[in-house]
This record gives sequence, C-alpha cells and structure tokens, in this order.
Amino acid sequence: MEILVLNGSPHVKGSTMDMVNAFIKGAEEAGHTVSFFDTAHMNIKGCLGCDYCRDHEKGVCVQKDDMQKIYPYLEKAEMVVFASPIYYFTLSAQLQAAIHRTYAPDIPPHVKKTALIMSSGDRFVYGPAITQYFQSIVEYWQVENAGIFTANNEQRNSEEKRNELYRFGKSL
Ligand SMILES: Cc1cc2nc3c(=O)[nH]c(=O)nc-3n(C[C@H](O)[C@H](O)[C@H](O)COP(=O)(O)O)c2cc1C
Repeated sequence: MEILVLNGSPHVKGSTMDMVNAFIKGAEEAGHTVSFFDTAHMNIKGCLGCDYCRDHEKGVCVQKDDMQKIYPYLEKAEMVVFASPIYYFTLSAQLQAAIHRTYAPDIPPHVKKTALIMSSGDRFVYGPAITQYFQSIVEYWQVENAGIFTANNEQRNSEEKRNELYRFGKSL
C-alpha cells in the first residue's frame, strides 16, 4: 500500500515524530511504501479561496509553493496519516494549511483509509482535532478511520507509545 504521512510538528525530535517514526518502521516492515512530508518545514501557504482550481484549471492550485511536491503523493496514496501536536486545542497551523490546500485536487482518488496521530501536554484536549478529522477527512473523503493515537504528558516519547504505533504500522 502507498502510505502518505503528513507531519505537522516542527520538532523533528519531538514526541509527534517519535510516534511517526515508530509507525513508519512498522509499516515499512510490513511491506508498505511510505512517503513522509514535514509540512512545518515546507513553504505551504494557506488556501486563498480563489477557486482557480474550480473555475479555471480543474484540480490545479494557483499557488506554486511546496504543496506542489505533496500533490503527486496525494494522487497515488492509498492511506494518509495525519500527525500533529495539539496547538490551542487543535491541529497545528502548518498541518491545517496542507489540509486546506487539498481543496484544489479535492478528494484523493485512491485513499481507502486514514489515521491520526497527536501529541499534547494535557489529557482530554483532542476534541476539536478529532471532530475536524472525522468531518473534514473521514466523512468527506468517505474513507475508513484506521486509528487515532494520542500521547500526552508522561506518555510522550515512551516505549509503550512507540510499541503501539509500531504494531499499528505492522498490522496494516
Ligand atoms: C503554540 C502551542 C500551543 C499549544 N497548545 C496546547 C493545547 O492547547 N493543549 C495541550 O495539551 N498542549 C498544548 N501545547 C503543548 C504541545 O501540544 C505538546 O508539547 C506536544 O507534545 C508537542 O509535540 P511535539 O513534541 O511533536 O512538538 C501547545 C504547544 C505550543 C507550542
């Protein structure tokens, strides 16, 4: 399976990446092809809402920034994994920007399942991010939610979480 991972954490050695790395290890060992993008270190602007992709060139975004690198992977992805720290009770702005920019190609043609990985300081802070994930991704794309994984407080960077994510990747 072609798996696309979109990471929204700016911390390359942070707790979100700790889970992402374990997931990728498991998924690759299971024989899947994983493509990874660090949206927080890419030049991805917010959607302009100009509707160029609707009214002029169907599916083509007028903004020629780093999102252009991600579009071909969205096109062929069979699974998309979203990973983010919780910033002010929701996904990071960097990941949000990438999600909003899927407006141009719209629903990826081959995606069958998605997953969400989140890290936070506190517990019980995932509500808005999970709501957005279900309503904007799972239901809109009509895909299966393969899993939602969270790590907060002392769970972050723990062997237990790494194992959980590794097993998830391996099980796909
Ligand atoms: C701008 C900002 C906003 C944050 N907002 C929240 C929040 O609303 N709730 C929470 O529990 N943690 C919040 N945090 C803490 C991060 O979610 C937490 O440290 C997370 O584990 C960071 O993940 P990382 O190691 O991948 O960077 C915030 C951190 C930052 C920098």
